[in-house]
Amino acid sequence: MRMAAAAPAAAAARLRAVALWAALLVLVVGVFSVSGAEVPNSSSSPSSSHLGQQGAFTSRRPSVERELDAARAAIRRAARLHRGSNASSAPGRWFRGDDVDYALLARVYRNPAAFHRSYVEMERRFKVYVYTEGEPPILHAGPCKNIYTIEGRFIEQLELLAPPAAGVRTWDPDRAHAFFLPFSVVQMVHFAYRPLSYDRAPLLSLVRDYVRVVASRHPFWNRSAGADHFMLSCHDWGPDASKGDPELYANGIRALCNANTSEGFRPGKDVSIPEINLYDGDTPRQLLGPSPGLSARPYLAFFAGGRHGHVRDLLLRHWKGRDPATFPVYEYDLPSTTGNGNSSGSHNRRGRDRQSDYFAYMHRSRFCLCPSGHEVASPRVVEAIHAGCVPVLVSGGYAPPFADVLRWESFSVSVPVADIPRLKEVLEGIPTAEVERLRDGVRLVKRHFTLRQPPERLDMFHMILHSVWLRRLNFRLDHYPVQNSVG
Ligand SMILES: *[C@@H]1O[C@H](CO)[C@@H](O)[C@H](O)[C@H]1NC(C)=O
Ligand SMILES: *[C@@H]1O[C@H](CO)[C@@H](O)[C@H](O)[C@H]1NC(C)=O
Ligand SMILES: *[C@@H]1O[C@H](CO)[C@@H](O)[C@H](O)[C@H]1NC(C)=O
Ligand SMILES: *[C@@H]1O[C@H](CO)[C@@H](O)[C@H](O)[C@H]1NC(C)=O
Ligand SMILES: *[C@@H]1O[C@H](CO)[C@@H](O)[C@H](O)[C@H]1NC(C)=O
Repeated sequence: MRMAAAAPAAAAARLRAVALWAALLVLVVGVFSVSGAEVPNSSSSPSSSHLGQQGAFTSRRPSVERELDAARAAIRRAARLHRGSNASSAPGRWFRGDDVDYALLARVYRNPAAFHRSYVEMERRFKVYVYTEGEPPILHAGPCKNIYTIEGRFIEQLELLAPPAAGVRTWDPDRAHAFFLPFSVVQMVHFAYRPLSYDRAPLLSLVRDYVRVVASRHPFWNRSAGADHFMLSCHDWGPDASKGDPELYANGIRALCNANTSEGFRPGKDVSIPEINLYDGDTPRQLLGPSPGLSARPYLAFFAGGRHGHVRDLLLRHWKGRDPATFPVYEYDLPSTTGNGNSSGSHNRRGRDRQSDYFAYMHRSRFCLCPSGHEVASPRVVEAIHAGCVPVLVSGGYAPPFADVLRWESFSVSVPVADIPRLKEVLEGIPTAEVERLRDGVRLVKRHFTLRQPPERLDMFHMILHSVWLRRLNFRLDHYPVQNSVG
C-alpha cells in the first residue's frame, strides 16, 4: 500500500536522510583509505535530528537499510581478516585463479579481502532504480564511441541489466539502494549548446529541469536531498552541468571523468571514472594482443598529442624533440613506424595508420606519459594499461579512478607538474626490478580498465558501479514510523 495520505512536504520533512560520514569514515578510511574523504557541508546536507527514532521500518522500504547494514558488517569483518597476518587465500583465487598470491594482490589492492567482500556484497544486493522519465537523445542515450564512450555505454549497460535478465537495475524503486539520473551531458552539448558561445546555461537548466521533474513525481529525491542519487558524465563540462541543481552538486554522487579536486570534486562523495577512447566503438585491435616485455621496449617514455592546457605546454616546451632515441615526445607529428619511414607526410597519413604508429610507440616504451590536457583526465591512462606501458600521471588535483580500492602507486607513477623538467631523471631513477613490479600491477588491474560488451565481472562498468556502491554505503537513510502508511 502506498503512503497516499502524507502531504509531499510533510513526507519530505519526516523522511530525512542522514549522512553517517563520521561513523563510516572508519569504513572508508580504515578499509579503503579514500584520501580526501570528508564530512559533508552540514549546512547543505540534510538534518540529522531524527537519528534517535531509527529502527522502525515502514512497509515501503522493508529491507534496504538493513541489507546495507549487513553488507557494512561483512566488509568490516573481512577488513579485519586482512589486517590479521594470515589472510585467507580465497580472494586470491577469486581475483585471478590460483596463481596469484596474496602478497601481489595486497600490493595492488588497498585491502583485497575487504574489496572482495564488498564486491560480492554488491553483486548479491545492490539495486539501482533508473528514472524512466525523458526521451533520447538527451536522456537514456549517449555516445558509444570516441572519447566520451563511457557516457553512452554506462547508460546503455545499466538500463539493459534489468529483470528478467539478471542485473543491478530494479523496476521497484522501493527496493533500490541508489537512483540513477540517465542524462548525457555530451548529448546536451550536442543538441542544446550554441557552438563557440561558451554559454553553458542551457546545460545547467536541462539538469535542473530533470531533477525537478523526478523530485516532483517521486518521493525519493526529497527524502535524501539527492544523496542516494547519482549521475555520470565524461564531458569536460559534466561538473558544470551538475551545478544546475545545487543539491545534486552538494549531495549527489557525481561520477565524472573530469575529477579535479580544485573544481569541487570530492573523492569521498563523487566517483572518478576512466576516460576511454574507443575510436570506432571497440577496443583498438592493436591493444588486444599480448604486450611485449621490457627487453622489447627501447624507449624510456613516450608522449604524442596536442598542446592543450598548461601542463601539456610545459611538457612540450621541455621535452619535444629533445631526445627522440630514448624519450620520444611529439606534438602530433609522430614519425611513421609502419610505413616507409616518410615522416614529413605523417599529417596526411590515414588516421588508422597514425593510430597504429601511436600504439606501436606505446608497445615500445616502458612508461607512457599521461599529462592532463584542458582537463585532468586522459584516455592515455587506459591505453597505456592495455599496452602494458606504465602510466605516468602528470597532473595537479586529479583524483584517479577506483583509488578507494586500487593502490595507484603499484601500477603507475605520479609526477607533479613542477617536476616536468626532471621527468627523464625521475623515470631513469626507477630500478628495473621496480619497473617489472609496476608492470605486474598494470597486468593485474587491466581488467578493471576494460569495457566489455556485455559487461563482465570486475570490468570497468562494474568497477564504476562498485564505486557508487561504496559511496552509498557511506550514507544512510533514516526511517521513521510513518503514521499514514498501512503496514
Ligand atoms: C520535493 O520538493 C520540491 C521543492 O520543495 C517540491 O516542489 C516537490 O513537490 C517535492 N516532491 C514531492 C514528491 O513531494
Ligand atoms: C557550506 O555551504 C554554505 C552554503 O552553501 C557555504 O556558504 C559554505 O561556505 C560551505 N562551507 C564549506 C566548508 O564548504
Ligand atoms: C595460515 O593459516 C593456515 C591454516 O590456519 C596455516 O596452515 C598456515 O600455515 C598459516 N600461514 C601463515 C603464513 O601463518
Ligand atoms: C613523403 O610524403 C610526402 C607527403 O605525402 C610526399 O610528398 C613525398 O613524396 C614522400 N616522400 C617519400 C620519399 O615517399
Ligand atoms: C583543475 O582545476 C583548477 C581550478 O579550476 C585549474 O586551475 C587547473 O588547471 C585544473 N587542472 C587541470 C589539469 O586542468
